[in-house]
Amino acid sequence: MEFQDVVRRRRMVRNYDPDRPVPPAVRDLILRNALHAPSAGFSQGWAFLVLEQPEDRARFWERTTDPQSASDSWLSGMRTAPLLILCLSHKDSYLERYARADKGWTDRDQARWAAPYWDIDTGFAALLMLLTAVDQDLGACFFGVPREKIPAVLEEFGVPDGHTPVGVVSVGYRRPGRRSGSLKAGRRPLADVVHMGHWGAHHVG
Ligand SMILES: Cc1cc2nc3c(=O)[nH]c(=O)nc-3n(C[C@H](O)[C@H](O)[C@H](O)COP(=O)(O)O)c2cc1C
Repeated sequence: MEFQDVVRRRRMVRNYDPDRPVPPAVRDLILRNALHAPSAGFSQGWAFLVLEQPEDRARFWERTTDPQSASDSWLSGMRTAPLLILCLSHKDSYLERYARADKGWTDRDQARWAAPYWDIDTGFAALLMLLTAVDQDLGACFFGVPREKIPAVLEEFGVPDGHTPVGVVSVGYRRPGRRSGSLKAGRRPLADVVHMGHWGAHHVG
């Protein structure tokens, strides 16, 4: 698929064909492409927990949702995803990397960081997964784990301390689903968000 088509076709997909698993070769391509994401200082402080066995996915949903949300249409669609990839960032890898001689931040002071690059880089990796899924004619969605559910998920799957779930990528073959209400706002135009040379000098054309 042409790159421009991949970008334009990408939409969050929240309903999947439950009877079509993601072929292992496609799963591995998604994961390998994620590792091509850029990372600050090439720290690569990320980890990916792959859940594809039905019982593992069920355990994930049990830990991240409340029993009363079982009839929720979002959840019933998302539960059809045959593949879930929990994307975890690892801040200590960055503090460690930047404490090395070529960077010199030996105090490991987090106040030095202009932005949480560990989360940003893990997000870049997740975006590559979303794009790879589209390129392979699959659908995918990036979604968050509710904050209060995070400890239970990490414990359930034996994730060591220091790893933070930035979000989850669900992947599968698309089935028609409801359009997200968030999209009503429409995509912001270039003129709104781009400033040419000086704040307030809008992009024209
Ligand atoms: C950081 C982030 C968190 C998101 N969390 C959720 C979520 O928890 N549930 C969900 O259904 N979609 C989630 N989304 C998807 C957005 O709702 C979606 O990207 C946005 O509405 C634009 O739609 P599109 O991606 O289909 O173009 C998230 C997206 C991002 C980037």
